[in-house]
Amino acid sequence: MTHMIDLVIFGGTGDLAQRKLLPSLWHLHRANQLDRVRRIICLGRSGHDTPAYRAQIADQINDAAESDSFLGKLEYLTLDATQLSDFDALSHLLHNPAPAEQTVFYLATAPALYGTICEHLKSSGVLALPSRVVLEKPIGNDLASCREINQRVLAVFNESNVFRIDHYLGKETVQNLLALRFGNSMFDPVWNSHHVDNIQITVAESIGVEGRGDFYAQTGALRDMVQNHILQVLCLVAMEPPASLEADTIRDEKLKVLRALTPITADTVKKNSVRGQYDDGAIDGQPVRGFLEEGGFAQATNTETFVALRAGVHNWRWINVPIYLRTGKRLAERYSEIVVEFKKHPFSLFADDQNHTPNKLVINIQPEESITLHTVIKKPGLSRGIKLEPVELTLTADTDKKQHYDAYERLLLDVFAGDQTLFMRGDEVEAAWQWIDGIIQAWQDVGVNVKPYPAGTMGPAAAQALTERDGRSWYD
Ligand code: BG6
Repeated sequence: MTHMIDLVIFGGTGDLAQRKLLPSLWHLHRANQLDRVRRIICLGRSGHDTPAYRAQIADQINDAAESDSFLGKLEYLTLDATQLSDFDALSHLLHNPAPAEQTVFYLATAPALYGTICEHLKSSGVLALPSRVVLEKPIGNDLASCREINQRVLAVFNESNVFRIDHYLGKETVQNLLALRFGNSMFDPVWNSHHVDNIQITVAESIGVEGRGDFYAQTGALRDMVQNHILQVLCLVAMEPPASLEADTIRDEKLKVLRALTPITADTVKKNSVRGQYDDGAIDGQPVRGFLEEGGFAQATNTETFVALRAGVHNWRWINVPIYLRTGKRLAERYSEIVVEFKKHPFSLFADDQNHTPNKLVINIQPEESITLHTVIKKPGLSRGIKLEPVELTLTADTDKKQHYDAYERLLLDVFAGDQTLFMRGDEVEAAWQWIDGIIQAWQDVGVNVKPYPAGTMGPAAAQALTERDGRSWYD
């Protein structure tokens, strides 16, 4: 295969590049999936040189076999993205010995720099080469800042060359939603408000805010997780069948879901949302400190590390179906799952059927990747009458562990192939911000403050009440 692509990573010494991008590129290389990438040019402000950078990455890889050919692709260039003159050296590098067929600019920096970087790429003449740009989340901090970023990026790149990453879309089971819903004929007839009682999406994390306290203090769980990951997953659960698997056809359908989200307003926010912040507690038997102490920022007293919402999609298919969303840090365990709970049958034929076990489809995104359909069957044996017993049908592919990949591996390959299906279009991100901004405004108007919860639990008690008020409960 020809060496067609130069990958340029802005933020090459940053956390994302070191923790996710370079390890994913290395795994792709080992799986012989990186042949078409000629160079990986990492940019940063610190004054490394290429040999020092390669040595540092070699230490991280810690695997002599095959690593030379990977390290040989890495180059390091010192560049301050705010300085246009620094881009001359980048331009020189990209043109020598000869330009690649495609250049991919991966912006793994603070989003406030996205506009400037794109403008500098244009002014320095680098974009005369066929180019794509990858933008990491968060795209802004609210609708206004997101619009500004989109406008500045789109003044330089066509939307068809902009890849906005939400790494949840790169997770195997999230893509499996498309296969499950549109590759089988049995789910679609019941995938609506006539048959579905409620939908739940949980993204629970046991880690705290790690080294990102400053960022997190100004962000909070609603902006950090719901605006992107959870809403993207919700789109795939709730969208109408697309007419094809073309990227824009799917993104059109996702956009309709985002635009149909019922606004949460000052009148409804108290009933439909819960904010929490973790306090001292224990995870896996180990004591952990509360958010304010761990982050060392007493001023973030009202930043939520947990949020639960009672959302709804106001359209023909989903009217009156509560969609419960929750996410938080320092919860009892790390797991992400989607639960589609079907309505109970109209009356009970069986003596021991208390009608307490409605059918459920449980989609585990992580740590396990599985899909399970919860049903009941006859309890085997000679007992009098028919007694019921719950049974879980597991719809999990028989993959061997080697096939497991990180979401970033899938998404990087898609960027190289120019496939935007698993990336967010600008209007989707803006529609998501519009809904989120409404909630934040309502919190401010009404004064919805964070409620403490002990680290190692599933959030404040009020989150249980959110479902219980409807006569429902979280699937834990
Ligand atoms: C990121 C958030 O987007 O997703 C982090 O900024 C969060 O706060 C992370 O920890 C979770 O990703 P994953 O893949 O570990 O569930």
